[in-house]
Amino acid sequence: MQIVSVINYKGGVGKTSLTANLAAELAFRGKKVLLVDLDAQASLTFSMISPDEWQQKYSENQTIKSWFDSFESGAPLSLKSIVHSPTRVNSRLRQAGGKVDAIYSHLGLINVDLELATNLGGATLAQAKKNFTTVHRRLLKGLNEFGDNDYDLVLIDCPPNFNIVTKTAIVASNFLLVPARPDYLSTLGIEYLIRSVSALVKDYNDFAELNQGEKVDPIKPKLLGVVFTMIQEYGGGPMAAQRAFMGQHQTAGLTVFDKYIKRNDTLFADAPQYGVPVVLNSYASGSHQSVVEGIEGVATEFGRHMNWWM
Ligand SMILES: Nc1ncnc2c1ncn2[C@@H]1O[C@H](COP(=O)(O)OP(=O)(O)O)[C@@H](O)[C@H]1O
Ligand SMILES: [Mg+2]
Repeated sequence: MQIVSVINYKGGVGKTSLTANLAAELAFRGKKVLLVDLDAQASLTFSMISPDEWQQKYSENQTIKSWFDSFESGAPLSLKSIVHSPTRVNSRLRQAGGKVDAIYSHLGLINVDLELATNLGGATLAQAKKNFTTVHRRLLKGLNEFGDNDYDLVLIDCPPNFNIVTKTAIVASNFLLVPARPDYLSTLGIEYLIRSVSALVKDYNDFAELNQGEKVDPIKPKLLGVVFTMIQEYGGGPMAAQRAFMGQHQTAGLTVFDKYIKRNDTLFADAPQYGVPVVLNSYASGSHQSVVEGIEGVATEFGRHMNWWM
């Protein structure tokens, strides 16, 4: 079971769209995928279920917020108990065995960060370090409830910040996938992200080593690569200015996915029937848009990185 965080400091770069479509495409090809929405904006959640359904069935005690909160009450929930199966996306899958399960988010998740932060202190340095590891590995421990028979892949949609909730995702991850738009600010953001991740990994591993009592394994999340999104093509390839930004990342030594997601305002802005990512909608309608080829290509490349034969 691979755990992958989809992450970028910037909002609006296509994190959630990539997460939803990658999950749908991989499940369409037979993979078992668990989606975790860690963004308080909950756009991944609302791309799968309607706000009404969320309100009635999940908001009160079946979201990732309730799960984080349950540690404060002293009666931690199991992560398994808040996993749900969004019906629309699953009704569109083709290959037997493939599925998309989800852990939904909550607008109140923003407050969870504050509570987690209060848990970080400690009367002594040793206590503070222990608390640091305990808080940061909470999601990792939760995801340990699952194994290879449950899921091939856990895909975590991260919020556009580097708060504690985001850090719990990084600590839990084998890989980080970074969607980016080909512009200057995204370029800066990725460098900063990489430095922040390195600092977190170092702190965590230093503290883990000192941890007395429970054995804490060191972490080593690997940057899987940068996936470019919302690319505008001209004459069969990305526009020159965008190509320049894409090349810049390669020069900086980052893995950049060969395949990218094209920009298609109609398809994305039309607010396609909620519950069904663009990629599956287009299979059903039979109109094979070029944006779908991009998603398929990214999924294949992603699978290759995971050593999956698809
Ligand atoms: N390939 C694309 N072409 C056009 N619009 C897109 C594309 N991908 C995402 N969008 C739109 O851009 C906005 C931001 O995308 P989103 O996936 O929510 O980004 P993030 O999660 O990084 O904030 C959304 O309105 C989405 O519908
Ligand atoms: Mg998002």
